[in-house]
Amino acid sequence: MPACDRIFWSRSNSFRFLSSSPSSYYLHAMRKLIIAIDGPSGVGKGTVARAIAAELGYRHVDSGAMYRAVGWKALQLGVGLDQEDTLSGLATDSTIEISATLVAIDGTDITRAIRTPEIDKAAAAVARLPNVRAILVGRQRRLGLDGGIVMEGRDIGTVVFPQADLKLYLDASVEERARRRASDSAHSGPVALAEVATALKERDQSDSTRAASPLYAAADAVVIDTTGTPVADVVAQVMAMVRKLLMAD
Ligand code: DC
Repeated sequence: MPACDRIFWSRSNSFRFLSSSPSSYYLHAMRKLIIAIDGPSGVGKGTVARAIAAELGYRHVDSGAMYRAVGWKALQLGVGLDQEDTLSGLATDSTIEISATLVAIDGTDITRAIRTPEIDKAAAAVARLPNVRAILVGRQRRLGLDGGIVMEGRDIGTVVFPQADLKLYLDASVEERARRRASDSAHSGPVALAEVATALKERDQSDSTRAASPLYAAADAVVIDTTGTPVADVVAQVMAMVRKLLMAD
């Protein structure tokens, strides 16, 4: 992949290539859709979701940050990652804020602290627990009550919003996902590609084989393989789908 495309797939540069076309103003005024974006770790869901949300003036929600927040708090409190009752109590009682620039739990800014290999593992562990999922899914659904939302995760099109207006499932080769993850400045950890790829494969395995809401593409999702595709092209493809949907109303 050329260096310039690699830059575009990184979180911090995600809007650079976008310009508001005049049609954006009309799109903002139309029906408020629910757009679900699922896919494996490191595929660039966040970059695409943020760009689409910015184009449409919608809220972007990274549902994975909620699992990370619960995993972070569990480690802080020394709660075992298999203690389902305690963890679901913790998920119920905690205040979790997610905005475009901030993730906070009980008022503590954990935006950077949750992007570490340790929290990758803790989040994957708590995400296996059905009672924790039920609580976080409830919160996610409430965020989507009025539409106008782009939510990314693993089960958004299958469980959280099975009625979503548009479901996307992004995929890419593990090598490409490892390159994107290693160049993601928001995520700390190893930069050796082989090590990043191994960790991604472990998480893919955990996320797609767990009993509770495993990762898979909804039957009515549009599957996009982004391997070798610049993010601007993926965003343009998705925006074409959104326009078609809105114009059909
Ligand atoms: O997208 P992410 O890597 O930040 O997600 C962190 C973990 O949470 C990951 O193991 C997948 C899991 N997750 C999930 O099970 N369901 C979601 N809707 C979002 C994330």
